[in-house]
Amino acid sequence: MNSSLCVLTGATGGIGKAIAHALYTQGWKLLLVGRNTQALEELSTACPDSEIFTGDLTDDATRINLAIKAKQLGGVKLLINNAGVNTMQSLERTSSEEIDCMLNTNLSVPIKLCQLFLGQLQFTKGTIVNIGSSFGSIGYPFQTLYCASKFGLRGFTEALSRELNGSGVKVAYLAPRATDTAINNDKTRAMNKELGNKMDSPELVAKELLILINSNQTRRFIGFPEKLFARINGVFPNIVDNAIAKQLPKIKRFLN
Ligand SMILES: NC(=O)c1ccc[n+]([C@@H]2O[C@H](COP(=O)([O-])OP(=O)(O)OC[C@H]3O[C@@H](n4cnc5c(N)ncnc54)[C@H](OP(=O)(O)O)[C@@H]3O)[C@@H](O)[C@H]2O)c1
Repeated sequence: MNSSLCVLTGATGGIGKAIAHALYTQGWKLLLVGRNTQALEELSTACPDSEIFTGDLTDDATRINLAIKAKQLGGVKLLINNAGVNTMQSLERTSSEEIDCMLNTNLSVPIKLCQLFLGQLQFTKGTIVNIGSSFGSIGYPFQTLYCASKFGLRGFTEALSRELNGSGVKVAYLAPRATDTAINNDKTRAMNKELGNKMDSPELVAKELLILINSNQTRRFIGFPEKLFARINGVFPNIVDNAIAKQLPKIKRFLN
């Protein structure tokens, strides 16, 4: 089927906006999804002919209505699960509601959207891109839930990709490192600066996404040395344990 519809969640966020502009330039028809109608309308004006959909994706009915709207527009060809949340804090100070919110938004919602859109994607021979993180491969202190959600998302993406092998549906994972968006508050930014962690522009992440969707790749990790650490952590986690242990006193200085 000849659809060029991209459903982009988290479209109004820093990375989402950059992805929207990059895909628009490549000729994709966009269905921009977020919680803020005004921000969506502004983005849609900058990407003419795109459609908007407002709603909280943790709500079951919202996701179903989104799938209905995409079907009415011809069916999704590219689903980008980009919406996400993060807060740097100790597990000890995290409430039960915050645990549910992080795991729900970052893990359950993308899983449920993949499931919901599977029929349309099989019909269009489409692509799913799940936006992960370096913290989907490296456990980091005071990022316990974010790491749990992104490790989970990486595992889910890999398993689904293998499950759908030969079906015509491509399932891919893109892992940015720290990126200059509102998800990082002043303390996180100050900590990254102190630790010498580089921060990419959202436009660079969008460029990497274009490379991923226009290739046969199913996973892409952004930034050196983060992608090297991710590999080392998989094989020799003790090396990364020791490196992060040395950073811990500095990291703790930036907590509330
Ligand atoms: N920036 C980084 O350092 C970084 C690094 C690695 C990975 N990532 C990942 O990149 C993705 C985009 O993050 P970002 O940096 O662009 O963050 P951002 O600027 O804070 O944008 C987050 C987006 O997610 C949407 N969102 C959050 N909860 C939602 C919900 N319940 N329902 C619907 N939409 C919801 C927000 O919508 P509203 O604005 O309407 O609330 C917003 O559009 C996330 O998955 C994040 O984990 C970011």
